[in-house]
Amino acid sequence: MAEIETINETASMQARARQWLREGKSIGFVPTMGALHAGHRALIARARKENDIGVVSIYVNPTQFGMGEDFEKYPRMPEADTRLSAEAGADCIFAPETLYSGDARTWVQVGELEDALCGLSRPGHFRGVATVVTKLLNIVLPDRAYFGRKDAQQLLIIETLVRDLDIGCEIVPVETVREADGLAMSSRNKYLSTAERKKALAISKALNHCRTQIEQGERDGMKLIGEMAEILEQQPDLEIDYVSLVDAHTLVDLTTLEGNVLAAIAVKIGSTRLIDNAGFKNIIESRIVKVK
Ligand code: PAJ
Repeated sequence: MAEIETINETASMQARARQWLREGKSIGFVPTMGALHAGHRALIARARKENDIGVVSIYVNPTQFGMGEDFEKYPRMPEADTRLSAEAGADCIFAPETLYSGDARTWVQVGELEDALCGLSRPGHFRGVATVVTKLLNIVLPDRAYFGRKDAQQLLIIETLVRDLDIGCEIVPVETVREADGLAMSSRNKYLSTAERKKALAISKALNHCRTQIEQGERDGMKLIGEMAEILEQQPDLEIDYVSLVDAHTLVDLTTLEGNVLAAIAVKIGSTRLIDNAGFKNIIESRIVKVK
């Protein structure tokens, strides 16, 4: 296992990054909130493979949690996270105590992309994400930063802000890593009881149904949303936040599926909020002609 360095101070992290860049080394960066799992591991391994230096940040960012959300109880396990990061090949962990001064006033907002899907039930969430990611990119100065497709809206918002603010960093999307039974890996899966975990399988089941239907030529968005909701509703005590079919670039709802489409689901099981999605590229609107 590689030696791993842990840095807790923002100024030290930035100085270290500048030193690497002076030495001509490329930096690959994976921002996380810790409680690392195989999904994070895939991002870290990829960052290390494609760059000279791999940096993982671990910071439970208070500004992306709303009132009554799980900021306080979000799992914190620094030793296990350090081990997993080192095993995946990271060279450095950035784990700041805080990233905000008491009188911080500046926010990064990415327009209406923040108001769709998860933004509707988590007002202010993406403003917190966009702001902390901008700060982290300014501190770690990566050539490439790696984000999971599991958080598709977050990925889109970060790609947009990096483009709009001319941040010289490539954003690399990484496919969702799943458990053997299809459940998308998430730090929040730790909250689920055995019975709740079983119910959570309905999410990937609904998305798989959607995929099969689209492959078979279904283009009626409302019909597909209804069918996905039906699969979810078979689970008692599963509360749907949203089941949506949207344009993958604008996040605007689609009634007829065409182009790049994102099927996205958010549910609550007990007090745990889970999200997942499936992307479909270049759907061509097919007109089915019935022949007698
Ligand atoms: P966190 O939930 O810890 O996720 C860190 C990164 O891991 C994100 O890019 C997320 O999309 C990715 N990830 C999570 N589960 C995954 C899975 N099953 N497969 C592939 N990638 C997965 O997302 C955040 O933290 C925060 O919002 C952050 C960007 C760090 C800002 O605070």
